[in-house]
Amino acid sequence: MLSPILLCALVCLAQQPAQTPAQTPPEPKPVDVHAEHPARPLFLANCAQCHGETGDGQGTTKLDRQARSFQDGGFSYGNTPEALVRTITYGIPGSPMPSFEKALALEQRKQLAEYVLLLGPVQEKTDAKDSVMVVKDRPLVVRGKLPPVVEGGPEFPRGLLIGTPEGLSFEYRTDDVRLLAVRNGEFADRADWRGRGGDALVPLGKTVHVRESGSDDWIFARFGALSRRQMRASEVLGGAGRLRYELLDPSGKHVANVLETPTAFTCSAGAGYARRFEIDPGVPDPQSALASHEVHGALAELKLRRGLASPRANVLVLEEITLPGVLWPADAAGQKKLMDSFLAEAKR
Ligand code: HEC
Repeated sequence: MLSPILLCALVCLAQQPAQTPAQTPPEPKPVDVHAEHPARPLFLANCAQCHGETGDGQGTTKLDRQARSFQDGGFSYGNTPEALVRTITYGIPGSPMPSFEKALALEQRKQLAEYVLLLGPVQEKTDAKDSVMVVKDRPLVVRGKLPPVVEGGPEFPRGLLIGTPEGLSFEYRTDDVRLLAVRNGEFADRADWRGRGGDALVPLGKTVHVRESGSDDWIFARFGALSRRQMRASEVLGGAGRLRYELLDPSGKHVANVLETPTAFTCSAGAGYARRFEIDPGVPDPQSALASHEVHGALAELKLRRGLASPRANVLVLEEITLPGVLWPADAAGQKKLMDSFLAEAKR
């Protein structure tokens, strides 16, 4: 049978007086800009199973949440080419989005970022506000009042953000030096610089992990009863943002100095973050490697604590690695495999 369009074309032709040539040239076939792009084979091989061949988010792999539809163009973790390269390189902690740092060369990741942007609607260029701070190749540390981490939660009048070049931001309260949350994406808006003061420092990334208060006590448990931590300084040194603080006992006496360095961490099990603690003076730690798996509501987190070689005698170096959303296998063999991959793939 003839298709209606063809049928119509035939009818129209038949009605056209033979002597007048067609007035309008035929519509050019729309060129598929994507098919020509050098990154298309890479996209099909590495991304399409989750994001769909057309980038509509409907891949063949079944996930607990939908992979992003690039056609809609709404990027939660930043929509600049740099931000996309970061997401592709380091993955998204707490989500199935893997890290491609080892699997793909930087040039390929850049091409993919460009390709992903092409799949979406044309972007309007917006001028970043003067007060928006962007982390480039060195970490940034800023202090200010922080808005609540969870809806309806308290504000933190004294807070601090460390932004890393991998696109993570670590959000701390500084009155008691505790990690509140980890975000991924853009860094921060110094809204407090715009108005007459009083506005909070606004973290711009999307929260990928909220820490339960006190959930890092397992790091310091061997020091006995501690009353609080007292902030001493923050610094950017050796390519990392770091915090210096003191541990105090209930009578306010000094127990130890701590240097804490948060960084991004990826391994084949997923993307997350690591915090390194250099504790001086350290006390011997017979159980330096420990794993803990906790579930808070819908959120599962896998944490690993391990001892590292110390730069100086008397200093205890521990690292806590958190992989939000990664499940601790139920069987011993699976647990051992995951633990081994953690330890083998740690970057230092
Ligand atoms: C195993 C499945 C999987 C694979 C493979 C995968 N992704 Fe993803 N990706 C996801 C999921 C799920 C999300 C959404 C995460 C979220 O929003 O929490 C995501 C999010 C993203 C984002 C962030 C979008 C935003 O909101 O800012 C980008 C960019 C991205 N993927 C690019 C890629 C590219 C490029 C590849 C191939 C090199 C790829 N992904 C491969 C599952 C996958």
